[in-house]
Amino acid sequence: MQVNDDVCFSSSFPYLSHFDITVKRLGNYQRIGARRFFFSPPNAGSIVHSEFDGIVLDYSRQQATVDTVDKLYNLAEAVHLKEKIHCMFNGERINSTENRSVLHVALRAARNAVINSDGKNVVPDVWNVLDKIKEFSEKVRNGSWVGATGKPLTNVIAIGIGGSFLGPLFVHNALQTDSEASKYAEGRQLRFLANVDPIDVARNTAGLSPETTLVVVVSKTFTTAETMLNACTLRAWISKELGPSAVAKHMVAVSTNLMLVEKFGIDPNNAFAFWDWVGGRYSVCSAVGVLPLSLQYGFSVVEKFLKGASSIDQHFSSASFEKNIPVLLGLLSVWNVSFLGYPARAILPYSQALEKFAPHIQQVSMESNGKGVSIDGVPLPFETGEIDFGEPGTNGQHSFYQLIHQGRVIPCDFIGVVKSQQPVYLEGEVVNNHDELMSNFFAQPDALAYGKTAEQLQNENVQQHLIPHKTFSGNRPSLSILLSSLDAYKIGQLLAIYEHRVAVQGFIWGINSFDQWGVELGKSLATQVRKQLNASRTKGEPVEGFNFSTTTILTRYLEESSDVLANPQTLLPRI
Ligand code: F6P
Repeated sequence: MQVNDDVCFSSSFPYLSHFDITVKRLGNYQRIGARRFFFSPPNAGSIVHSEFDGIVLDYSRQQATVDTVDKLYNLAEAVHLKEKIHCMFNGERINSTENRSVLHVALRAARNAVINSDGKNVVPDVWNVLDKIKEFSEKVRNGSWVGATGKPLTNVIAIGIGGSFLGPLFVHNALQTDSEASKYAEGRQLRFLANVDPIDVARNTAGLSPETTLVVVVSKTFTTAETMLNACTLRAWISKELGPSAVAKHMVAVSTNLMLVEKFGIDPNNAFAFWDWVGGRYSVCSAVGVLPLSLQYGFSVVEKFLKGASSIDQHFSSASFEKNIPVLLGLLSVWNVSFLGYPARAILPYSQALEKFAPHIQQVSMESNGKGVSIDGVPLPFETGEIDFGEPGTNGQHSFYQLIHQGRVIPCDFIGVVKSQQPVYLEGEVVNNHDELMSNFFAQPDALAYGKTAEQLQNENVQQHLIPHKTFSGNRPSLSILLSSLDAYKIGQLLAIYEHRVAVQGFIWGINSFDQWGVELGKSLATQVRKQLNASRTKGEPVEGFNFSTTTILTRYLEESSDVLANPQTLLPRI
């Protein structure tokens, strides 16, 4: 595909203004048709249904009609969505504020694929690291790499935060109960230390001995304050028990910044690289996820996960809009946010194994699309991004679904699985346990869509004064994604679907979905506070240079914790 450079790096204004016009046009349409669903007579199914490689998407319960989707396809054409997807796969530096390509798709490409960044095929580098991970993880798993006292390293603590944590945690949780993956994890533990809160250190080291523990420090930049302090803390934990020389056997790293890894004291031979064209929140398929997961489950399981993600990459880059699951999802999300004005989205997996999926997508989506300006810096005349949250069904049903059914309108993603990872059938019960769960998965979208009228309640002889309380308005949008199973391959597919959906939304909105400047201000203010805490604690300096509120509360904090340095129990050796 020949693509003009302007398209790769655009907002750009012509597209934005076109978008604006289209918004108005669709806005009129919205007044005519917003409160109608896709009709769902049995023979209309194919229009609102897409299927690919064991995944079914049903979007018949969106607040839209077939016409809406046609208009959204037109919008996609107008903003050159196809070309923008091509720019991403082609290694153009579409993350223009950081001058970087966006090539997480290369992390799961086949060994013989060619994906260029700056004219260089990056796939061989990707596979070099994958091969190194395979070799290292096999050594640790089969006991040929042992700890300083000769004991096998059966426990892994992965230190990292944000994208260096949430994705791997989601995949680990999802694999934990998969019958195939869990076989390979017998006798092993994988834990994640993210929060700089020392409670997280205590929880993650509880019951573990440094003798049998391998610490993987995961940080793209190797400068993130939380991760570096946690890494220093666990280095001290290891050396207190085993001596400083043990660190070489018990600590490895994943980073793009190998110089800082070495400076920290980790042998660069025990560092696993990735590249600046991998965004933190898109890094689960790099060594960030592949190393800890291979240590826990073996490389072959993780390779299946990568293959699943790759299957969606191919589908995303080649399927027509009408059949393209990430494109359809992205367009419908834009419709819900920008046209219908719904600011939130609930991600509701009917699988306990997907317990950490919503928190991961929360970062992927909100850090990517929570922006206020277009890619070329022009303030946006519309809101982008959505507030993502979610819990596994049915737990969510007993928590926040009340609001979704009778309070605010929140578009919902229902995610279900055909075959349970852990089937149970209690003799004499009406249905097996997974069917019980899935009864809810099928029922909830209809409850939201069709509701319950006052008339129906009257026919049921409900007391008059209760009728308003028991009425359900219906017409609440949702979509359903049904996965044939939940193995490593399917988990990879699910991840890639959501990653690409978020990119589609960003491409349509004309923003840069791959930078994250919004996290910087808080970090630099924390640096000022850190300096103040040090000066006050060590030199008794008064709090200065902050506004009245911060000065007052900070002073109070210092006064009430003045004994903190005096407690020798909290001291770990510094090396
Ligand atoms: O919170 C901002 C952020 O930069 C995320 O984008 C990133 O995933 C996280 O911090 C961790 O960064 P690093 O991997 O460099 O430690």
